[in-house]
Amino acid sequence: MSQKVKDPILDYYRKIIKSDYLHYGYWNSEEELKVENLHRAQERYIKHLISLIPQGAQTVLDVGCGVGGNALLLLDKGFQVEALSPDIAQQEAFKAKEDVPFYLTKFEDFQTDKRYDLILMSESTQYIPIKEGFEKSRALLNSKGYLLVSDYFLIENFNKDSVLAICTHQKNEYLKAAEEFGFEIVQSEDITSRVTPTLDLAKLKYQEYVLPTLELFNDLLVGWAPIPYKIVKFLARKPLANLEKQLQLIDSHEFVKHRQYMIYLFVLRK
Ligand SMILES: C[S@@+](CC[C@H](N)C(=O)[O-])C[C@H]1O[C@@H](n2cnc3c(N)ncnc32)[C@H](O)[C@@H]1O
Repeated sequence: MSQKVKDPILDYYRKIIKSDYLHYGYWNSEEELKVENLHRAQERYIKHLISLIPQGAQTVLDVGCGVGGNALLLLDKGFQVEALSPDIAQQEAFKAKEDVPFYLTKFEDFQTDKRYDLILMSESTQYIPIKEGFEKSRALLNSKGYLLVSDYFLIENFNKDSVLAICTHQKNEYLKAAEEFGFEIVQSEDITSRVTPTLDLAKLKYQEYVLPTLELFNDLLVGWAPIPYKIVKFLARKPLANLEKQLQLIDSHEFVKHRQYMIYLFVLRK
């Protein structure tokens, strides 16, 4: 039985950006950094992925489907879609409930007799162990089926303790495993520069809203209760240090130094 989870960060992100998508945006140059433009860029992202689906592919398994924006667009384009995610909050919020079967499970644990023409992993590859992901994709695809992956990868061997290495596959390791499991690249695209404005927007919003709110709490506590303030600050030192580290994740300069956002369309050679 698959473990049911709720990812608090994805849930927070979903509530803040109020979007049907949990992936980065695919920005046009010179687009202003604002939430409305993020929504447009996110829709452009999934439309771009759909435009890469080869002719003849009809049935799609949307792996790590989030809240269903991608599934809705796929349906709209005439694909037969099924979706899965292990996240109970996403199951509740899933927008395509009426028309798309939703399976509450991790991909690695998914059991079905069905086979699909294409498996879509829109920013979900990073959550799935590499070998289990390819093994399961092999088992669930029709012969000459496709795996369409869009996600960021580490471009170098990296200290695994670094916050940038968390939840990210090393690109060469991933591609080597793809080959071993019989997946051949049909198309690949580096979209790093098109997606990093998403991080610049996150940083801007952090500086505009989150930071002043933290400073306000800090000032209120110091003024009203200096002794408890010292205790709270002492107790919160680890989460605060952690927050500091997490901020590296929304730094686009750090991102381009260590990560690459790639689209891969693989075909399965059984
Ligand atoms: C960043 S979100 C992307 C959501 C959606 N694909 C999109 O493009 O908006 C990552 C997704 O992967 C899902 N996920 C996490 N671990 C997973 C696993 N082991 N198997 C399948 N999906 C997983 C999360 O619940 C979430 O739906």
